[in-house]
Amino acid sequence: MSNLESLKLELKNLGKEYAKLKTLEKTERKAFGEKINQKKNELLKKIAEEEEKLESGALEKIDLSAPFGINESPISFKKGTVHPLSRELALVSKIYSDMGFDVIESRQLDDEFHMFESLNFPAGHPARDGYDTFRTEEGFIPPAHTSTMQYRALTRFRKNLDAGENIAVVVPGRVFRNEDVDATHEHTFYQCEGIFVSKTASLSQLLGTWKNFFETYYGEKLNIKTQPGYFPFTEPSLEFLIEKPKALGGNGWLEMGGCGMIHPNVLKIAGIDPEVYKGFAFGGGIDRLVMLKYGITDVRYFESGKLEFLKEF
Ligand code: DAH
Repeated sequence: MSNLESLKLELKNLGKEYAKLKTLEKTERKAFGEKINQKKNELLKKIAEEEEKLESGALEKIDLSAPFGINESPISFKKGTVHPLSRELALVSKIYSDMGFDVIESRQLDDEFHMFESLNFPAGHPARDGYDTFRTEEGFIPPAHTSTMQYRALTRFRKNLDAGENIAVVVPGRVFRNEDVDATHEHTFYQCEGIFVSKTASLSQLLGTWKNFFETYYGEKLNIKTQPGYFPFTEPSLEFLIEKPKALGGNGWLEMGGCGMIHPNVLKIAGIDPEVYKGFAFGGGIDRLVMLKYGITDVRYFESGKLEFLKEF
């Protein structure tokens, strides 16, 4: 409660004191009346001073010893909303989690080894140019894709294989590229990586898994197709396309990301024997997924902090 408000409350309570006058002996009435009048005048003066301060813009001092009002808030919580990307990332994680995947978050600062070597990009390999991102002065790399987490996921969950289980992990995260920004390109965006390793992992399992994800996310059966792709960390490598969901107007194919069977070198570097185990991996952008779902036409809205946009969600 502000100073002014508590003064006004005090004045209101003082009003009740006048009623007591009637109950007093005549001799006492005068003194009592004078006392409340004096108090009333003091309060009126203070209220006038406070009001003047407010009008002249002087700031009221915060009373640090005041009790903490747990039920008081200067803002209405109803006005805040979760950022659409945060909400959809949580949904994406939930879908994969329901399918049996562990979920780990990617890093926003990584290194040469995780970005390239561990993913079978030898030094000087031309495919490195496809992942043009930024570097800190110390040589750290804001990752250009969530595949940088493959080595960490494989080594962290390698114990699953020893226990006769599979590795099944997804990694949602923020990624960065040195892009010319326009309605469909951002320097900062989100991806989700999937990694699965078992003795019998196959391409058909990969396609079935990813199809299942997109069907759950868009809430309808979808047609899919693949095109040959190239990534040093998968062999074979594919680009994965879905037919535009009917609920979103149908018609045409949409490329949702890259995938393939994990390259034997990537498994080997992570200490997994490629003669015994096979793996598949997939990775695609989250921003596009969400843009498509809600008919958002400009990717730049996500990072813009524009309230008109955010309030729509
Ligand atoms: N990381 C790749 C990119 O951003 C996409 C990708 C391709 C991820 C193949 C994968 C994969 O896991 O197996 O271009």
